[in-house]
Amino acid sequence: MATPTDVQRRTGGQQVRRIIYSQDDIATRVAAMGRDITEFYPEGDNLLVLGLLKGSFIFLADLVREIARPVHVDFLVAASYGAGTVSTGDVRLVYDPEANLSGRHVLLVEDIIDSGNTINRLVPLLEGRGPKSLELCTLLHKRLAAPLARDPRWVGFEAPAEFLIGYGLDHSEKYRNLPFIASI
Ligand code: IMP
Ligand code: MG
Repeated sequence: MATPTDVQRRTGGQQVRRIIYSQDDIATRVAAMGRDITEFYPEGDNLLVLGLLKGSFIFLADLVREIARPVHVDFLVAASYGAGTVSTGDVRLVYDPEANLSGRHVLLVEDIIDSGNTINRLVPLLEGRGPKSLELCTLLHKRLAAPLARDPRWVGFEAPAEFLIGYGLDHSEKYRNLPFIASI
């Protein structure tokens, strides 16, 4: 368990409101998600795991090691937040994956679904590239969004409607390296 001193050392003094998911909670949940995903995709199925950067980088790294199937990994970058803690609704694709999606099983990996803008913008775009299937997996879901273009098949945790940091999630690019998830 992270002590308050450990936390402040890592955040550079920023107080966290509370630790919501510990390192152990996350590891247990990610392992279970990996098992579910493994079962969902039959063997040799040409699975492409697409991580949405930057927020998903730690989750994706842990998740793919729990998927006992051959996978390819690629990334895309969609920026939806500036320096603030509220979604602006303006989703920009800053990096587009090089992998060909046509005829492949694609698993899009998100860190967190908040307003749903990112998903709603990306799903039609990726669908247009003719994947054999497209599924979403998100570590956190705030359930604030109006109906989504596609519901995630796998959700790690039902997240509180607070601003969360750690395990890849940032606030103004800080705190991604916290091994737990906290609210500020
Ligand atoms: P949406 O487009 O509003 O659903 O938000 C998606 C993106 O916003 C996520 O991939 C995160 O990068 C970011 N985001 C949403 N909520 C949070 C939060 O609580 N903490 C940090 N980043 C967040
Ligand atoms: Mg972010």
